[in-house]
Amino acid sequence: MAHDYFAVRPAKRLRGTTTVPGDKSMSHRAVLFGALAQGATHVRAWLPAGDTEASLGAVQALGVRVERHSETELTVHGGQLHAPDQPLDLVNAGTGIRLLTGIMVGQPFPSILDGSEQLRRRPMKRIIDPLRLMGADIEGTNGYAPLHIKPATLRGIQYDLPMASAQVKSAVLLAALFAEGETVVTEPGAARDHTERMLRAMGVDVAVEGNKVTIQPTRTLRPMDFTIPGDASSAAFPVVAALIIPDSDITLTNINLNPTRTGLFDVLREMGADLTITETGTEAGDPVGTIRARHSPLKGVTVGGEVVVRMIDEFPIFMVAALFAEGETLVRDAGELRVKETDRLAVMTAELTKLGATIVETEDGFYLSGVQKLTGAKVFGHDDHRISMSLVVAGLAADGNTDVIDAECAADSFPGYAETLRKLGANVWAQALEAGE
Ligand code: S3P
Repeated sequence: MAHDYFAVRPAKRLRGTTTVPGDKSMSHRAVLFGALAQGATHVRAWLPAGDTEASLGAVQALGVRVERHSETELTVHGGQLHAPDQPLDLVNAGTGIRLLTGIMVGQPFPSILDGSEQLRRRPMKRIIDPLRLMGADIEGTNGYAPLHIKPATLRGIQYDLPMASAQVKSAVLLAALFAEGETVVTEPGAARDHTERMLRAMGVDVAVEGNKVTIQPTRTLRPMDFTIPGDASSAAFPVVAALIIPDSDITLTNINLNPTRTGLFDVLREMGADLTITETGTEAGDPVGTIRARHSPLKGVTVGGEVVVRMIDEFPIFMVAALFAEGETLVRDAGELRVKETDRLAVMTAELTKLGATIVETEDGFYLSGVQKLTGAKVFGHDDHRISMSLVVAGLAADGNTDVIDAECAADSFPGYAETLRKLGANVWAQALEAGE
């Protein structure tokens, strides 16, 4: 459990140009898929964060050699996985455990996948069910980790995903590589498609037609050589901060603009945000570009349906933005937020209430009416990186000082978060708690 805290002082304005660390989803996939490729996969701008280091550690525990040229540049020597001599520890990484499970069910040796207490509370039945339909021998612990896997012969399936989830989709697509016959996955919404894009770049036969993904099995994956762009989900924090803090004007460069990831920016624009997004090129098959965000008066909005999955990780910071929007904001169809690192609807509502906000939580979303005034207070990140970072932004826009207990967890996805905000002129410091505090 992290005990460090962010000391946040109200910001006068944010100004300047910077970037954010590499995309978390792509960084997980780079090491997991690289481990399966025949040869050396070379990755630049990899994200050295708690979650992605957990995937990297698991791959190494499977006997894969990884050359670390620097914190952010590595070469994965893939091709042969070996039986691990102890349970694979994915720490807090939901993406790590769910994707790796898809891979492990196809291996000729047994394995156990486990993680932190937090990860043990995240639902795994959603991957166990389809993987069993494929013939996998997988036992959860009442539907949760640890997951016990034994070798089995897999067959391709046709599967309608009950929820829009890139992790579940990816687990099935990865198991399908080791199955007999093709697999077809149909999704209820367009969840992030990094797995499809990267596997295709590695020579796998993956066809996408509307909401249907068809994949053919193969044991030979071509190694990759690519640079990971900045994570749009990390960019969301400084972007919202700039929109709600008067006189701000910031530019973030080299951000991944994959359309399955940019739902928040679409919604913010609908709210009247002054966002200029300029595509500057492509990286690893994804469009990449620059985002300029200037302080804007925002209007409330209704969010539901197709856009929800395209901004699923951004609802904690969106809730902060909505408090600064005039009129009613209503979110529905976002029940998945209850099974993230924390129940993000409940936790954000409770913590923002401590800063003076009034928010009504519903079963699958929330509503609130703005503009609201926030007053600095002591709040908690609950060991959930996106909660902690969202509360920092709320603190920057509040009157008075805010302490966000649980600063360390920000490094699960955004190492150097406080430093990045300071570069833009914010007064945020990660501090150690004194004993007994
Ligand atoms: C991710 C998928 C999403 C997202 C998570 C990363 C991925 O989870 O919330 O942060 O990299 O595939 P779900 O698939 O559970 O929606």
